[in-house]
Parts: sequence; structure tokens; C-alpha cells
Amino acid sequence: MTLRVGVIGTGMIGQDHIRRLTQVLSGVRVVAVTDIDQGRALTAAPEGAEVFDTPQALIRSESVQAVVICSWGPAHEEQLLECISAGKPVFCEKPLVTSEAAAIRVMDAEVAFGRRLVQVGFMRRFDGDYRRLKAVIDGGTLGAPLLYHSVHRNASVPEGLYTSDMPLNDTLVHDADISRWLLDDEITGVEVRVPRRSLRGKDLRDPTLVLLHTVSGALVDVEISVNIGYGYDIRGEVSCEEGVASLPNRPATVISDHHGIRQAIPEDWRERFIDAYDQEFREWIAAAGQGTATGPSTWDGYAATLVADAALRAVESGHLEPVRMRGKPALYGVPVAVAA
Ligand SMILES: NC(=O)c1ccc[n+]([C@@H]2O[C@H](COP(=O)([O-])OP(=O)(O)OC[C@H]3O[C@@H](n4cnc5c(N)ncnc54)[C@H](O)[C@@H]3O)[C@@H](O)[C@H]2O)c1
Repeated sequence: MTLRVGVIGTGMIGQDHIRRLTQVLSGVRVVAVTDIDQGRALTAAPEGAEVFDTPQALIRSESVQAVVICSWGPAHEEQLLECISAGKPVFCEKPLVTSEAAAIRVMDAEVAFGRRLVQVGFMRRFDGDYRRLKAVIDGGTLGAPLLYHSVHRNASVPEGLYTSDMPLNDTLVHDADISRWLLDDEITGVEVRVPRRSLRGKDLRDPTLVLLHTVSGALVDVEISVNIGYGYDIRGEVSCEEGVASLPNRPATVISDHHGIRQAIPEDWRERFIDAYDQEFREWIAAAGQGTATGPSTWDGYAATLVADAALRAVESGHLEPVRMRGKPALYGVPVAVAA
């Protein structure tokens, strides 16, 4: 069976996902697109796809079985609620939404519907290296995880468009989500420290150091540098009771010559996570074909939103800011046990 998909938002990642859904993956067809910039939607529409005037019309169309949301974060809530009310599986790029209240509205709607429909675009969970790292931790041979060091470095960010809050409410969500998933833990509080600014970052608060406290007592430190210059550098290292498991930046060809030993560095997230995005959609297509969703859920999007909110409070207060989650609905699985 071929899943008929409508894409909302045909900007940078929307176009990349349309390419993936039309040229890379099987069992799926993009039959509809829409964007507030109609010209962009027309250009991005693959052959045979209908261009809709509004997201609502696309979601309600009988030709669309499942929806991919790649619009800006503040637009996600309305589009997600429309998908849930239409009973259609939806892949939503991160962030799920941009406020706690909005996350709760989406969660309540999905819980009332009674079946998971929403998958959030936390693609790291589909990356082979992260999956191997998780398998080691879950295997238990290294004992309990105590510390997780997460490094998130971007070569650059668009000047003027990327603001000083965005390391905390746009970039950190990936590290927050992968920490919760790797450690099978929930975040209870956030501290933020701002070191000397990098001159490369111009007026931005950059870099930023974030400390995440968890239910189990494990700590996560996150370096976010968004103007590092040399490339896209994602790393992680888990210190456990009996050893350490590391995720270096994606292993690539190693060149040895008269300059020494060198390894290519990915340019950006598209290159580093290309296989993860493909796998994320493979699993989404399979689940959406069954009328449901898999992987990162509305609950995970809600958790990331709370962490981002706490991080923004923490950078202002200079203190540890609590993350207070509501009770976990059964639809999203078993709650994390509180440490003895
Ligand atoms: N998972 C990842 O690694 C990753 C990477 C990049 C972007 N993203 C997320 O994807 C989303 C899009 O990012 P982008 O970089 O493609 O941005 P972009 O600005 O390039 O594209 C967004 C598009 O959405 C359209 N749009 C905005 N509001 C709309 C609405 N209400 N209805 C219809 N169209 C609307 C815009 O006109 C634009 O064409 C963001 O939420 C971003 O955080 C995720």
C-alpha cells in the first residue's frame, strides 16, 4: 500500500523531506503541499501533487491520509489539533509546540482521541550511532549511567534570524530529548551558565553551558556552540559506574598525510543525520500506514518544551529552575520511577 502524504511548510526542511519522500523512500507518495508562501509551495510541489491554499484544507482533503508538518513552531499547535480532530497520523518537526499550555492542549486532544497519532521530529533517536550507544547503556554491562556529556556545535546560524534565546528554546530540545531517551529518565531541573562570549557569535549569547538534573540523580551537561565555524559537531559520552560509552562525531574517512591524521567533519545536520532522517520516516510511514505513530511522542515534545522554558528562566535567574511535569497519560507508556 502507498501512503498518501500532505506536507505543510515547504521551506528548508520541508523541501528536504519532500525529496526524501519522493526520491529515497518507498511506500509513500506526496500528494499535497501547502505553505503561506504559495510561490514556494508551487515550486516545491512534486509532480502530480495538489497545492492547497491552507493547512486546514490539506488536512481535511480525502486524498491525504497522513500529514507532515514543517512549518514554523508557533504554527504547529493549530495544525496538530486539526490533524487529531481529523484522526490523521501526523509527523511534526520539532518543536512540538512553543508553550507548555499548547503542549497540554495537543496531549489532551490525542489522549481523548485514544490512540497515538503524533510523532515528533527528534531524529537522533533513529541514528545508528545513538541506537548503538543506547544498546550499550540498556545492556547494563557498564552499570548505572551517572553523567552524560552532550556536545552540540553548529558551524553557524543565520544572522538576525537566530536569536540569543534559540540555543535554549530551539537547539537544546534535541539534547534534552536524547538525554531522556538514552538515560530512560526525566529531567527535573535546569541550570544555565554563560561563559565568555565567542567573538564569532557577534551579539549572540554563545556558547552556552546547560546542566540538566534528572529523576535518577544522573546529571547531563550540554555545550551549545552555534558559531563554531569548522563544521557541525555532535558528540556524547556517558560515564557509568563500570565504564564509559562515547559517541564521537560521525566516523568518516580518515586521511593520513604530511599534515597529520585528519577526519572530515559534517557541514550541517542534513549531512550528519541523513540516514537518521531516512530511518525516522521509514518507521513513521510503517506506523502511519497502521493509522498510528511511533518513536518520539507528544509526551516527549511536551517534556522538551518544559526543559526549554526552564532553561530560559534559568539563564535569567542564574539558579536551578525546576521542571514540573504533569502525570504521564497511559497512552505514552510507563512513567520513570523515582530514585530510591
Ligand atoms: N529535526 C531537525 O533537525 C530540524 C532541522 C531544521 C528545522 N527543523 C524544524 O522544522 C521546522 C521548519 O524549519 P525550516 O528550517 O524548514 O524553516 P523555513 O523557514 O525554511 O521553512 C518553514 C516554512 O513554513 C512556512 N510556514 C510557516 N508558517 C506556516 C503556516 N502557518 N502555514 C503554512 N506554512 C507555513 C514558511 O512560509 C516556510 O516556507 C521548524 O519547526 C524547525 O525547528 C528541524
